[in-house]
Amino acid sequence: MAVSPPQKILIVDDDADMATALKLYLEEEGYDTSVANDGKTALEMMLGGNRFSQVLLDISMPNLDGITVLKLLRDSNCDASVIMMSGHGSEDLAVECMKNGAEDYISKPFAMADLLQRIKRARNHRLTLIEKMRLEQEKEDFYLMLSHDLKNPMTAVIGSIDIIREGRLGPVNEEQIEYLQSAIDSCNEVITMINNLLDIRRFEAGKMPLAIRHCNLEEIIRKVVAQFSQTAEHDGIRLSLNLDSSLPDIAIDQKAMVRIMGNLLGNSLKFTPLGGEIVVTCDYFENSLDTQRLRIPIYASIPKHFSEITRFVRIRVRDSGIGIPSQELKRIFDRYEQYRSGSGREQGGAGLGLAFCKWAVESFDGVIWAESENGKGSEIIILLPCSE
Ligand SMILES: Nc1ncnc2c1ncn2[C@@H]1O[C@H](COP(=O)(O)OP(=O)(O)OP(=O)(O)O)[C@@H](O)[C@H]1O
Ligand SMILES: [Mg+2]
Repeated sequence: MAVSPPQKILIVDDDADMATALKLYLEEEGYDTSVANDGKTALEMMLGGNRFSQVLLDISMPNLDGITVLKLLRDSNCDASVIMMSGHGSEDLAVECMKNGAEDYISKPFAMADLLQRIKRARNHRLTLIEKMRLEQEKEDFYLMLSHDLKNPMTAVIGSIDIIREGRLGPVNEEQIEYLQSAIDSCNEVITMINNLLDIRRFEAGKMPLAIRHCNLEEIIRKVVAQFSQTAEHDGIRLSLNLDSSLPDIAIDQKAMVRIMGNLLGNSLKFTPLGGEIVVTCDYFENSLDTQRLRIPIYASIPKHFSEITRFVRIRVRDSGIGIPSQELKRIFDRYEQYRSGSGREQGGAGLGLAFCKWAVESFDGVIWAESENGKGSEIIILLPCSE
């Protein structure tokens, strides 16, 4: 087995005696150490190509104090673990060190055995953090690849097929049109899936740009239902819409709402067999929230301020499809959760649609939940508060 070289530790302290004592002790313990007696020298040594894996950094030093050195090291993406040392310890100081990226903090005077333990712990802690950052970066690269290398070419494929389908390159017959349309539909499914994935990622990172403003919900719902009516007809499924005549405008992000409705209708179509039915209902009611009457489950995490709201819009998408078993009702809103009555993933999809819906509805301060009796269809319900 290869023997790993001793860890290199930089001791930074303006107290030369202290630095020498530390050096002697740590070298005896098998570490390779160097000393810097001020912050500027420490920075030059750390950033000048020396591979130190750890730094023991005194806080009060003339000119450049330890916290400033720590900040500069972290700004330069230095990977070394840092243990701060101070003669006038306080909890506030310790918190400040940790906030600025130190692994640990130790008050002088300290027992060498204690320091040794902390050195080992700090290195492990740093290595875990580095690994986490590497995985984060990998994830970031993957999402970038999804949007650039997969979504963009897919859009180009749709464009090209569409040109042929429209007969712009020569005559196409009905049967060919149908095949080309089905190719376009499949590409669109992949794009929706990628969009869901990218949006959930944005939501999680707090980078989802939502334009929440008062919108005409009726218009949005009518539009999405109209988009799905052809597919429903094609699949032999009755799709109907019941809209309350007094729907008020509501504060939402229009694009996200279109995507929510698209995901819900897409699911109902996917899980409802030929001859089935899908009903979209949207009603408005004015009274304090009766969570029991509405049967809002606990997992739907009702926002606290809901008890003060008296006006709500409720959207329901009900289908007569295969239904969802009661133990799955909560889980289907988690990412990548798919319930299959049979084996395999015969219906396609990634299990992201409802996770997207939940994120989006909650960002409108609403709640979403599912009701179903297995085998007797499902209903997804969204409750959105109306601003007073
Ligand atoms: N209307 C429905 N009827 C029956 N089951 C449903 C219905 N809607 C959702 N489900 C169940 O919930 C799971 C999660 O739904 P979700 O929309 O998140 O994912 P998906 O449709 O499988 O994939 P994606 O939306 O990413 O294409 C589905 O796989 C299915 O098992
Ligand atoms: Mg779906």
